[in-house]
Amino acid sequence: MSMIRPFDPTDILRFNNVNSDAWTATYHNGYYASYTAQWPDFCVAVEGAFDPSIKAYMIAKHEPPAPDPQHHGHLTALSIAPEYRSLGLARTLMNLLESLSGSNPRISNHNHIPEDEHDHSNCGGHHDHHPHAHGDEAEVEVDSEGSQEGNIDGVDAWFVDLFVRCNNKRAIEMYEKMGYSVYRRVVDYYHGMEGIGSTRDELDGFDMRKSMPKDSTKRYVRFNGKDILVSPDQVWA
Ligand SMILES: CC(C)(COP(=O)(O)OP(=O)(O)OC[C@H]1O[C@@H](n2cnc3c(N)ncnc32)[C@H](O)[C@@H]1OP(=O)(O)O)[C@@H](O)C(=O)NCCC(=O)NCCS
Repeated sequence: MSMIRPFDPTDILRFNNVNSDAWTATYHNGYYASYTAQWPDFCVAVEGAFDPSIKAYMIAKHEPPAPDPQHHGHLTALSIAPEYRSLGLARTLMNLLESLSGSNPRISNHNHIPEDEHDHSNCGGHHDHHPHAHGDEAEVEVDSEGSQEGNIDGVDAWFVDLFVRCNNKRAIEMYEKMGYSVYRRVVDYYHGMEGIGSTRDELDGFDMRKSMPKDSTKRYVRFNGKDILVSPDQVWA
């Protein structure tokens, strides 16, 4: 059995098993503390019930504050320890983010993932502008299919977005399966964060988006996003 609970800033002292992955960025310590202070309910860790090591975590936020027309949920980091992949954890954490970002989350106290779920079987980057405070902590109840039940309102944002290296095929395919599509390609988004190499696809990032229910006309997504090239400056503008 594993538990999803709020990310604690001290989790960074024991998440090396998750972060020693070429696709996962490790930020400075204050970065995680800042997120947990401002968006505690958007930052969660998965921990074994009987084994205190970190199995997975999600760092996320929503910005700029509503009623700004760009108000959106943003996935900054999502990483699953290698031995815990393909068990539905990423799906579960993304469901949580979408519940918190959308208008109809289904959230309640305490989240437990049955052990047999395990047996059968970073995303963000520099996107760190518009800091602001938000929200109460929340834990989620997740059933065996990864859906959540409960009664805490979401922030009713227009969309959820994330950045992913253009050559992170597994993650891109996973997000597409979850309903995300490329909104634009940010050239050199990962400049200075080479890590896994420096080919064009390693340095560029796809900005992927999924409309939330509030965006009923789908005006925040586009279908030719891979052809839209922008610079990082245009993203921060
Ligand atoms: C990418 C990553 C987060 C996936 O986590 P995971 O826990 O293995 O994913 P899940 O088991 O929850 O799978 C989620 C969905 O994606 C699908 N999926 C997983 N890998 C896939 C692949 N290579 N191709 C297509 N679909 C895939 C699964 O089938 C599942 O769909 P379903 O819920 O309909 O069955 C994980 O491999 C990881 O941590 N990678 C390193 C860090 C990273 O790249 N993070 C993303 C940066 S933006």
